[in-house]
Amino acid sequence: KKASIGVTGLAVMGRNLARNLARHGHTVALHNRSEQRTRDLVEQFGDEGDFIPAYSAQEFVDALERPRQIVIMVKAGAPTDAVIEEFAPLLEKGDVIVDAGNAHFADTRRREAALREQGLHFVGTGVSGGEEGALHGPSIMPGGSPESYESLGPLFEDISAKVDGAPCCTHIGPDGAGHFVKMVHNGIEYADMQLIAESFDLLRGALGYEPAQIADVFRTWNTGRLDSYLIEITAEVLAHTDAATGKPFVDIVTDQAEQKGTGRWTVQIGLDLGVPISGIAEAVFARSLSGSANLRAASRGLPGPSRTPLSGAAAETFADDVERALYASKIVAYAQGFNQIQAGGAEYGWDIDLGAVAKIWRGGCIIRAKFLDDVSAAYAAEPGLPTLLTSGDFRKAVEDAQDSWRSVIATAVRLGIPTPGFATALAYYDGLRAERLPAALVQGQRDFFGAHTYRRVDREGSFHTAWATSERAESPA
Ligand code: 6PG
Repeated sequence: KKASIGVTGLAVMGRNLARNLARHGHTVALHNRSEQRTRDLVEQFGDEGDFIPAYSAQEFVDALERPRQIVIMVKAGAPTDAVIEEFAPLLEKGDVIVDAGNAHFADTRRREAALREQGLHFVGTGVSGGEEGALHGPSIMPGGSPESYESLGPLFEDISAKVDGAPCCTHIGPDGAGHFVKMVHNGIEYADMQLIAESFDLLRGALGYEPAQIADVFRTWNTGRLDSYLIEITAEVLAHTDAATGKPFVDIVTDQAEQKGTGRWTVQIGLDLGVPISGIAEAVFARSLSGSANLRAASRGLPGPSRTPLSGAAAETFADDVERALYASKIVAYAQGFNQIQAGGAEYGWDIDLGAVAKIWRGGCIIRAKFLDDVSAAYAAEPGLPTLLTSGDFRKAVEDAQDSWRSVIATAVRLGIPTPGFATALAYYDGLRAERLPAALVQGQRDFFGAHTYRRVDREGSFHTAWATSERAESPA
């Protein structure tokens, strides 16, 4: 019997994907650079399903049914190219190579184009949900040709998470579309995490709550519209006590957030596309600031206000205010992320169904949340929706959150609690809804020093004012 799919790269993500496939009744060929990992998998989990261990690239390829489907799960970058180079010459027209790592979509586009020349399908696939997700049901975002999805789709849908019976897997679009969408998923993940972290900091700084109390607040929030995996695990982390010291876990961890780079990519591409994804950008910068140890050490003595906790009526409503501010800021972060997907789709000619993306993010992935039901519905109802902020329930939620959102940020500013995520979300919102922006003045400045010209509100065309002359006469440019 031959295998319907093969997995090469059997570190924890690859191993769990292979086990997930086998547990669903698919025969899985296994390959790893060092043979030991392959042997270990078969030894430890061989009874979970049908595995065909292969100890050379040729053996692996020979173990597969046609069209062959090979899932690569190795480190993004050069290791991925090395594996492709190893297998591509052994494959035949119509075979499919899947890269399930966190590759940059530009690399995926390059690889897809090169392999297409050889008659091979290359599918860059986003897989989210960490180790547990890979084993029990991730959210899967495959790019590549529609043809490749015909054979791969049923397998991936089978092993993906399910929400209301619907698989958390859909064909995103051609070439790099899947990895692009996974990249933005991670950018949104950064923003969501930062907003939750700011909420924690606010509850602690303005109310004097202990981490365990804040865990309870998050647990309560998790029963409402903020119901999500990230809120759930936040409560767990906050409630955890360090065994060695008896202190809250959050107080013994170094406060320098790291990043493997997908959030940074999202912001870089956001800049290239000219999409204002300020919430994601602030989240990436907040991590960079946290990690700037020397800068922080040098700045520690700088003056700030005293942090007297709130009292009275303000204290009583504060946690609810933060919940509203968090929800409104979260809507902004998602609105920005979805706009980036829209812009990427337009730039690269992918016809991405935003409602379908929101739908497959409802389960399996790190940003899975009840809220994504409504996002999905909003885009299903209006695929060309300019921004989530104007859509029915979200518009109403932001309207209801207005006063709380502003007052929470005002409190943060007054007490000197940094809330870049909340603040940039509100600034984005106020910027979008503004009748007039001071960008008109920026145009005037640009024309003054560089004759960069401007357009007028009342006439067509471009104009320049002769700023250096006393007449300051205007002429068409
Ligand atoms: C997922 C995660 C996963 C990974 C992140 C972590 O969707 O399963 O996003 O891909 O955990 O890349 O990213 P950082 O190390 O950059 O925080």
